[in-house]
Amino acid sequence: MHAVDPTRLDLCREFRDNPIGRHSPDLQKLVKLLRWERIESRYLLVQPRRGDPWFLAHTTGPKAHALEIFRDHGFPDLPSAYWALFKARWEANTDERLVLDGVDDPVIPRPGEGDLTLNASDRPILSYSDVFSTEPGGRVEFKVSAEGDAPYHAEIVRLRCGDGTPEGPAFHETPVESAVTGDYPARAQTIDVGSYIDVGQPDAFELESFTLQAYVWPTTPGKGEQAILANWDEDAKHGFALVIDEEGGAALYLGDGKDNFILGTGVPLLERQWYLLTASFDGATRQAWIGQRPLVQLPHGDTTASGASGVDLSPVRGPGLRIAAWAGDGGRYNGKIDSPVVGNRALSTGARDAVMAHAVPADLSDALVARWDFSQEMSGTRIVDVSGNGHDGATVNLPTRAMKGWNWDGTEYNWARKPEHYGAIHFHDDDLYDCGWATDFAFEVPRDLKSGIYCAKMTRGDHEDYCPFVVRPPLGTATAPLALLLPTASYWAYADRHSEVEWRERENVTGYWAALDPSALYLHEHPELGCSLYDEHADGSGVCYTSRLRPILNMQPKEKLWQFAADTHITDWLEAKGIDYDVITEDDLDAHGYELLRPYKCVMTGTHPEYPSLRMQEAYETFKNEGGRFIYFGGNGFYWRVSYHPDLPGVLEMRRAEDGIRSWLADGGEYYHSFTGELGGMWRRMGRAPQSVAGTGMAAQGFDYSCPYERTEASHDPRAAFIFDGIGDDEKIGDFGVLGGGAAGWEVDRADTALGTPPHALTVATATDFTHAYHWVKEELTHTHSANTGETSPMVRSDMVFYETPKGGAVFSTSSIAWAAALSHNDYDNNVSRISENVIRRFCDPAPI
Ligand SMILES: [Fe+2]
Repeated sequence: MHAVDPTRLDLCREFRDNPIGRHSPDLQKLVKLLRWERIESRYLLVQPRRGDPWFLAHTTGPKAHALEIFRDHGFPDLPSAYWALFKARWEANTDERLVLDGVDDPVIPRPGEGDLTLNASDRPILSYSDVFSTEPGGRVEFKVSAEGDAPYHAEIVRLRCGDGTPEGPAFHETPVESAVTGDYPARAQTIDVGSYIDVGQPDAFELESFTLQAYVWPTTPGKGEQAILANWDEDAKHGFALVIDEEGGAALYLGDGKDNFILGTGVPLLERQWYLLTASFDGATRQAWIGQRPLVQLPHGDTTASGASGVDLSPVRGPGLRIAAWAGDGGRYNGKIDSPVVGNRALSTGARDAVMAHAVPADLSDALVARWDFSQEMSGTRIVDVSGNGHDGATVNLPTRAMKGWNWDGTEYNWARKPEHYGAIHFHDDDLYDCGWATDFAFEVPRDLKSGIYCAKMTRGDHEDYCPFVVRPPLGTATAPLALLLPTASYWAYADRHSEVEWRERENVTGYWAALDPSALYLHEHPELGCSLYDEHADGSGVCYTSRLRPILNMQPKEKLWQFAADTHITDWLEAKGIDYDVITEDDLDAHGYELLRPYKCVMTGTHPEYPSLRMQEAYETFKNEGGRFIYFGGNGFYWRVSYHPDLPGVLEMRRAEDGIRSWLADGGEYYHSFTGELGGMWRRMGRAPQSVAGTGMAAQGFDYSCPYERTEASHDPRAAFIFDGIGDDEKIGDFGVLGGGAAGWEVDRADTALGTPPHALTVATATDFTHAYHWVKEELTHTHSANTGETSPMVRSDMVFYETPKGGAVFSTSSIAWAAALSHNDYDNNVSRISENVIRRFCDPAPI
């Protein structure tokens, strides 16, 4: 049923002649089938460096798995590359050569004929800054890692337009004279990726005899050695550790610096099952013991196992204690740990038997060195030792907290109300918070520097790297009536996204083929840069935390027109139109609330403000009620709830709970944010649907074509006259644009009074001509059915909305991500530009609306 029919060559011909066009229903079906290929084994396209051809490649797995690149099979443009990819997938599915009219073109290479590599990308300069938003008189420190010996050049530029595509408005940056300008010596800075707990204190853990014990829920027991409780120096091989060994079972490591002794159970642990692991060593008798016992006994394939042995060495002093890691290379653990304990004596035979019979931890109460309770201080980084000995630790790289523990029983879903059920921490070997790099240069922001988007620009030969930042006015002041509010929470949510390779459904979700640009390829080859909130960790669990204190490749100019680069279409247009503006950020808004917005007559969003925090929501509400004018200039806004960490800079949390279009699913019982205790998930499910913020809310997404809006009857209401000044009654609005050829597209929103659109709101235009790639969002469905696409569902539309708010305020919503990409069409002279300008000029006018 789900097989490709090799006799339908007519469909292949149709695709070859029109690889990006609108396809017949039978070809659509075939393309959908070809897009179900597995992550571990599928053809896709890669472009190792900007300007390179697109090469056919073949995957071997998610990030850090080599890609096989077929260097002899490069294609100068995406349409020809898509045809090759289609042909490759078709041949892989049918086991036949696709020969049309006697011609086998292009000849598709088979796996094994290319170069298997993890070094195809080339990005010798990486950078990040300590702050993203600052004010005149402030300072931004730049942290740079540059490979090689040659110096690189750095300067500050003001960024007007970051669109690097030939289709878009011209890339536009202006150098800023500053003391930064100059050459800097290259130095490589490293990233220590993977989370763990550092306790240290080697004196406290220099034990002649000991017991190590913890509940564990391993997620990758087969990946190789992973430390659970380790006072172990991997390079020198001394100390002791409870680990998961190469065989995937529990093991005890002992080392004296010359020899090391390993006692393993030899029985691999099962993934995502709770176990009690125990290891002990008696220094007097030199007897070692290891045991693993699953908490749930299965009727087949019991993995209960233990082992005992005499040892002819005495472990020497270790480097100090770590949980989920050891000192030195490797050893990072994936999975949960709960209630770890270190005791200063070995277990008796009776105690061992009890552990193995009942999975009840040994009673070490008279011999405790440390017992850590992860359910305490869940929001922070301190790990509390409740033994009374004060051996507290600290988390490194933010492992996920507020996770269901071994004893969670479903009686409570909010960790704050029953923390004792949430005593687990989930560690990942690709967690990353702060790279901690040294500063290479700093920019002292002149007091008279105009608010806007700026970048440190690093260049060496034909390599470059941009590190963007924002200069905003001092809090409580404005230098223009208009503020552009950059959706920085969404930038961090998308930061260093891996989904091109790793998300199996991505092609069918987006409607286009997997094609890794140079940044996506670099991220695939360099997992040490961490993850986005769209990714799964290497162990398949969803990513809840994201940080900006690391190089972020996809939030730079010249990158894909999504979020940051797409938002510079707005600054480009504002400058083209001579409209004065300040730039502020969502990070600032979360920190300062309404006070940030108060000085402005008008605040406009970026193209995709998807991730507001509670503080942001409250600020919007107050701004609207106090006479502010709010322009929602994007699509799929105000959708997921995020929390910024109360103390740690630059990191936020979200849980993909319950519903919504999402790339991973939060586990039941793990919906509450660890940073703040807030319920995570969709604002809609918390009674604050996006429609209640700016009149419209997510209706559909699809990424093949965009379409124009048409005016509605309501657009002729005198209240809306200013919006359509200079626009004809029957004009199609935005039948052009850089994203999909229309102003309504990518992600689009609709009005709905039941969800919070004010009853007096006017839907002044609507776009409905969407393709089958657009699907009505799942949170609104009661049932799935085939009429839910843009071709047939009345719910798939983009509504342009206007309404007045108290005290002379107003709201205007374009409800489409693609809108801003249409502004520059015809040298900025077009009806998308005209409507935008009509609204902004009126909204900046202090006369009440
Ligand atoms: Fe999104």
